[in-house]
Amino acid sequence: MGCKVFELLFWVSSVLCLACFARAFTPADNYLIDCGSPTNTTVGGRLFMADILASKLLSAPKNVIGNTSKAVTSSDDSPLYQTARIFTGVSKYAFSISQRGRHWIRLYFYPFVYASYDMNLAKFAVSTENHVLLSSFSVQAPLVKEFSVDVTTNSLAITFSPSENSFAFINALEVVSVPDQLIPDGAKSVKSSVGFQGLMWQALETVARVNMGGPTVSVENDTLWRTWVPDQHFLVENNLALSISNTRAVNYVAGGSTQEIAPNSVYGTCTRMNSLSDPNSNFNVTWVFDVDPGFQYLLRFHFCDIVSNALNQLYFNVFIDSSMVVQDLDLSTLFNVLAAAYYMDFVTESAASNKLRVSIGPSDLRGTYPDAILNGLEIMKMNNSDGSLTGLGTVNTSGSSSKKKVSAIVGVSVGVVSGVLLAGVLFMFCRKRKRLARHRQSKTWIPISINGGTSHTMGSKYSKGTTASLNSNTGYRIPFLAVQEATNNFDESWVIGIGGFGKVYKGELNDGTKVAVKRGNPWSQQGLAEFQTEIEMLSQFRHRHLVSLIGYCDEKNEMILIYEYMENGTLKSHLYGSGHPSLSWKQRLEICVGAARGLHYLHTGYAKAVIHRDVKSANILLDENLMAKVADFGLSKTGPEIDQTHVSTAVKGSFGYLDPEYFRRQQLTEKSDVYSFGVVLLEVLCARPVIDPTLPREMVNLAEWAMKWQKRGQLEQIIDPNLTGDIRPNSLRKFGETAEKCLADIGVNRPSMGDVLWNLEYALQLQEAVVRGDPEENSTNMIGELSPQIKNFSELDPTAFSAQFEVSSVDDLSGVSMSKVFSQLLKSEGR
Ligand SMILES: *[C@@H]1O[C@H](CO)[C@@H](O)[C@H](O)[C@H]1NC(C)=O
Ligand SMILES: *[C@@H]1O[C@H](CO)[C@@H](O)[C@H](O)[C@H]1NC(C)=O
Ligand SMILES: *[C@@H]1O[C@H](CO)[C@@H](O)[C@H](O)[C@H]1NC(C)=O
Ligand SMILES: *[C@@H]1O[C@H](CO)[C@@H](O)[C@H](O)[C@H]1NC(C)=O
Ligand SMILES: *[C@@H]1O[C@H](CO)[C@@H](O)[C@H](O)[C@H]1NC(C)=O
Ligand SMILES: *[C@@H]1O[C@H](CO)[C@@H](O)[C@H](O)[C@H]1NC(C)=O
Repeated sequence: MGCKVFELLFWVSSVLCLACFARAFTPADNYLIDCGSPTNTTVGGRLFMADILASKLLSAPKNVIGNTSKAVTSSDDSPLYQTARIFTGVSKYAFSISQRGRHWIRLYFYPFVYASYDMNLAKFAVSTENHVLLSSFSVQAPLVKEFSVDVTTNSLAITFSPSENSFAFINALEVVSVPDQLIPDGAKSVKSSVGFQGLMWQALETVARVNMGGPTVSVENDTLWRTWVPDQHFLVENNLALSISNTRAVNYVAGGSTQEIAPNSVYGTCTRMNSLSDPNSNFNVTWVFDVDPGFQYLLRFHFCDIVSNALNQLYFNVFIDSSMVVQDLDLSTLFNVLAAAYYMDFVTESAASNKLRVSIGPSDLRGTYPDAILNGLEIMKMNNSDGSLTGLGTVNTSGSSSKKKVSAIVGVSVGVVSGVLLAGVLFMFCRKRKRLARHRQSKTWIPISINGGTSHTMGSKYSKGTTASLNSNTGYRIPFLAVQEATNNFDESWVIGIGGFGKVYKGELNDGTKVAVKRGNPWSQQGLAEFQTEIEMLSQFRHRHLVSLIGYCDEKNEMILIYEYMENGTLKSHLYGSGHPSLSWKQRLEICVGAARGLHYLHTGYAKAVIHRDVKSANILLDENLMAKVADFGLSKTGPEIDQTHVSTAVKGSFGYLDPEYFRRQQLTEKSDVYSFGVVLLEVLCARPVIDPTLPREMVNLAEWAMKWQKRGQLEQIIDPNLTGDIRPNSLRKFGETAEKCLADIGVNRPSMGDVLWNLEYALQLQEAVVRGDPEENSTNMIGELSPQIKNFSELDPTAFSAQFEVSSVDDLSGVSMSKVFSQLLKSEGR
């Protein structure tokens, strides 16, 4: 049974993978300038514009002191290196930015001698408005410097400032948009269990970009015009490593990495521990990189298990300097497929030395073969607290007003320079610095649990360190005998569901109360933590829209949970596949509103936010009146804080619903639930499974497919045919917008559950009543004639709005009815 699931997932991901080849990123801003060149130059299929076309971007007066005619050069040289622009005073390129966000800045340097200017002697600084990129910079060998900065206005200025009595130069320049998802806002920290936040605002300089075990991947062959260099130069002991290549195996899986994050020529090769001849091998494979002390670095590890031929074969550890950052990593548990492309980001502390070591080594787990792989590695320097990427400069905000600005365009012969390999020298530029030896104490941090997931739920379900105590809840304990009686001795014909945890039986207590009895597999240690979590959560949280726990039984090693019986089963079964009559749009909206209320209460109704972590249509149950209640709290956790003390933060949740950001960073927030709920909304609208491998490939993943239509403004094309004619266009529009916001790539851009609730209420109002005013105008915030309780929330003060919700949550508490049920139970069971 487990195998079938793996096969299915494998198949699904292969299909998804095919779908992602079709996409190619088109940068909104794409300035490529061949400085000093009289003509356009095409390199790697990209057109670098002639200097004259770019000169309007330059704010310096152009004092042209050289001519721009090209000399004959060796064919090995990049055509971009034949000309340069020389700046003898502070000069500024001002680019107008059409789409804010992260942009590459690539600076090409190729020093040569023109007239009295020996560019090997040039010394200068380069800065943007907010960041110093280079200072006291001089260059004696061909070099491309790559930076990326977040642009928050509609312009970006790049300023060249010559040092005293010197000049600046540049051969070519790129300012190009970067896809938003390339650098997410958060990453893990090497030394602390609290992740790093705020990467979005960091200026980054590429220090190394390495294709482990493979050849150079050049600009032409990279999805974002990056260069990846081979790893041999960085390896400490070449004989400890093997190079492996299997590019065709690479799977791009939803929630994992993408072609843009790294192409399959990177994921399809790896450097592997050379242990095949000796099963007792015990060593690390280590690479060393030159870094500047005093700066923090972002390390991105690219993994793709192209060496295993079965799941759960490869376990290894990953180190940054002396810190173990991942222990017993089993890549196959992340997606339950082999060769899924995946990456992990870590932010280091301020570097104490001028060397950064990265190692992989075998796991200590008994019964595993010593082995380890790494497919790619990127090291990016982060700006310091002055916003600078260099130790010397600070941003000069006093501007460039009074200085005399002079620039020169030159062309020159570079004929005899021997074959310059752009890529090979790209990141070799290193400064020798005094070694600051400071020993750091080692502390390990283990983000990934080794327990393999089976069933429909992904990843390990067992969290070490769960502190749930049953003692405070002994009042809910029900004798095993009573449970046996209630379920006709676990009559197989009374089974109403089977989940990852075990079977669910229908039952009836002595007093006639109908119950659902969930019986965990008694031999499953994995379920214990979930069992405890669920009892703990449900005995604390009482809400009309959360399924109520009536009691539990832990006699004889049993793990049995007894819930109120939900007459109408799961929301999912009413949407597709079960032959239930189709629900009306109004009914569906009411169900969504109810479920949103339950989740909103979980997120806000208690001192610490509770994150459900497994929101899906199968976990939203319907009572006899089709009122929605959120169920299955086995994976729930309180707020982000709790992860600081927990050892395991393995990714949990269900395939197709999983927040891509959580998947990558394994950092949990309420917004992960919001994402999953967004998927549920689409399920409700389209009445189809979230992953359906039988469909044409662009339709397999519901969230991706529906968002395509939503972005085109044609969501109505794909709604459940049963709803045609039933949905008012405005209600659909509001609903579609709400789902879209929930599915924002980045958590901070998603609405809170309270906002979602409010938007769904509004969609319901739009369906039920005629809203006055032009709905096109007021689709986001303003509302016209609504029911009184909605109107209360509409006062423009957002704090009043959330306060209203708090009150409404408290009103929703149904603890009274619960204790009634419970006292009946006590009476009838005579305890
Ligand atoms: C150079 O490229 C620009 C577009 O970037 C184009 O408008 C211009 O005509 C080209 N000039 C030449 C000489 O090809
Ligand atoms: C630069 O221009 C001068 C005259 O202005 C000319 O004599 C010289 O040949 C040119 N240089 C090249 C490399 O074409
Ligand atoms: C790009 O990759 C293909 C296939 O691996 C290879 O044949 C080609 O030479 C590469 N192109 C460049 C410019 O590296
Ligand atoms: C691998 O490197 C780490 C960090 O430097 C070290 O603690 C560990 O002992 C090494 N393992 C082996 C087998 O050498
Ligand atoms: C980098 O610069 C930004 C301002 O642009 C600042 O907010 C951030 O804290 C800096 N990063 C570090 C690590 O100091
Ligand atoms: C900043 O710019 C002003 C005016 O251009 C100049 O006088 C000053 O020396 C500059 N400071 C630095 C640190 O470059």
